[in-house]
Amino acid sequence: MKFLLFVSFVVTLSYAQKSLAFCDEYIEFDISFYGKFISNVKLSNTTDAILADYRIMIIDNELNVLSSISIPKTNNSTCSWIFTPISGYFFIGCQKGADSPYLIAYKSINETHYSQFGDIVQFPIVNSTVIKITGSDNTLFTVETTKVTLFTLVMSAADWSIKTTQNVLDKNYFSRTSEINITDITFLPYVQDSMKYLKIMVTEFNVGSFWIDALVKNNIVSPFRTGNIFPNLSWTKYQSVTIHSTTSNVSMISMTYYTTQNSPMSYKVVVNSVASTSLTTNFLYTQSGWQHQIAVLKSGNVEAIMYRNPLKQTILYIYICSNSSSHIRKLR
Ligand SMILES: *[C@@H]1O[C@H](CO)[C@@H](O)[C@H](O)[C@H]1NC(C)=O
Ligand SMILES: *[C@@H]1O[C@H](CO)[C@@H](O)[C@H](O)[C@H]1NC(C)=O
Ligand SMILES: *[C@@H]1O[C@H](CO)[C@@H](O)[C@H](O)[C@H]1NC(C)=O
Ligand SMILES: *[C@@H]1O[C@H](CO)[C@@H](O)[C@H](O)[C@H]1NC(C)=O
Ligand SMILES: *[C@@H]1O[C@H](CO)[C@@H](O)[C@H](O)[C@H]1NC(C)=O
Ligand SMILES: *[C@@H]1O[C@H](CO)[C@@H](O)[C@H](O)[C@H]1NC(C)=O
Ligand SMILES: *[C@@H]1O[C@H](CO)[C@@H](O)[C@H](O)[C@H]1NC(C)=O
Ligand SMILES: *[C@@H]1O[C@H](CO)[C@@H](O)[C@H](O)[C@H]1NC(C)=O
Ligand SMILES: *[C@@H]1O[C@H](CO)[C@@H](O)[C@H](O)[C@H]1NC(C)=O
Repeated sequence: MKFLLFVSFVVTLSYAQKSLAFCDEYIEFDISFYGKFISNVKLSNTTDAILADYRIMIIDNELNVLSSISIPKTNNSTCSWIFTPISGYFFIGCQKGADSPYLIAYKSINETHYSQFGDIVQFPIVNSTVIKITGSDNTLFTVETTKVTLFTLVMSAADWSIKTTQNVLDKNYFSRTSEINITDITFLPYVQDSMKYLKIMVTEFNVGSFWIDALVKNNIVSPFRTGNIFPNLSWTKYQSVTIHSTTSNVSMISMTYYTTQNSPMSYKVVVNSVASTSLTTNFLYTQSGWQHQIAVLKSGNVEAIMYRNPLKQTILYIYICSNSSSHIRKLR
């Protein structure tokens, strides 16, 4: 038995506004049965799925385990990613070394139970180690350090499959002359003229982030324009971006850096045109003497960052965000 900060951290985020004492809430899980916790995804307002080494747990807002499902492990691969691109289903992504990664699909039986759906499906044409597998609507993204490849998820009543597309976001797509080194991807939907779009941000180690606008039509994500978010900070390398809110031309984001002495920063990003994006610094998540540990986590208008000091004490800061001028406020 082991106390898992991770779970109470992620799950109780939704309580943050109700109660600031939420860090006191925790629950114990049997590590020998479920395995080590890896990642989680929100399935609905009241349920989350947690991917652990041996099983996937469906939990409610009070951290009760509603059900759990085993993971068919094949050939010693590691399952590191869990996401829910379409409602009623979630997927886990696995890979062994640089072999082509694969997905396992789970379909909801009812509010509390899921079961495996169809067969394990391998990605075509991916031949190196992926850093992330995710998806939105019927589009899947595999993220390698040099490119993001888009695939189409084809669902039928009894089965599903993966189809290749023409969309590859690589150095040519981003008009870079030297090779790129992708460290993260994130996206958030927005609506304009009654049409659904996705703002995608791909973080690059040396320069910052690329933004991509994609149209979501018939549940397929189609990128149509891209530009740069380059803060030009000579003292750092870029780790991840969290999008707090977005329209087609204005996004509120937080960016984290690899150098832990540099606090994450919040920016207002204004896209004037594909060639011109202006950045305004909104907020510096400073915590003197403490180093941020993980990417900014977001749930609704609440953001959280974990910091650690040289004595390895850990604190969790909660930020309330709004898109007004006083963008972010630190609690306590
Ligand atoms: C989920 O929560 C959001 C925000 O609180 C609310 O607008 C929405 O109606 C809820 N959805 C369901 C299915 O309860
Ligand atoms: C597992 O390994 C066997 C033998 O090497 C191979 O035939 C099979 O396709 C592999 N399965 C997966 C899912 O990688
Ligand atoms: C999995 O790994 C174990 C230990 O490394 C090895 O003995 C076994 O043969 C592997 N199985 C497959 C299918 O690769
Ligand atoms: C949901 O499905 C599971 C598995 O079929 C079943 O055991 C459980 O009773 C169902 N729950 C409800 C609320 O229907
Ligand atoms: C992966 O595929 C690309 C394009 O098909 C090829 O250029 C590259 O050499 C392959 N890499 C490996 C490690 O097989
Ligand atoms: C690429 O990014 C990783 C971090 O994801 C970093 O450790 C590595 O040094 C970078 N490589 C190059 C060549 O910049
Ligand atoms: C960073 O430099 C590029 C190229 O000089 C420029 O286009 C961009 O506006 C700069 N970014 C900021 C935030 O000043
Ligand atoms: C803030 O952003 C959200 C999401 O983009 C939007 O729905 C809301 O209307 C915005 N609020 C204001 C005050 O602009
Ligand atoms: C963003 O676009 C909207 C609609 O086209 C426009 O009204 C607004 O002025 C733009 N905002 C900025 C900051 O450019």
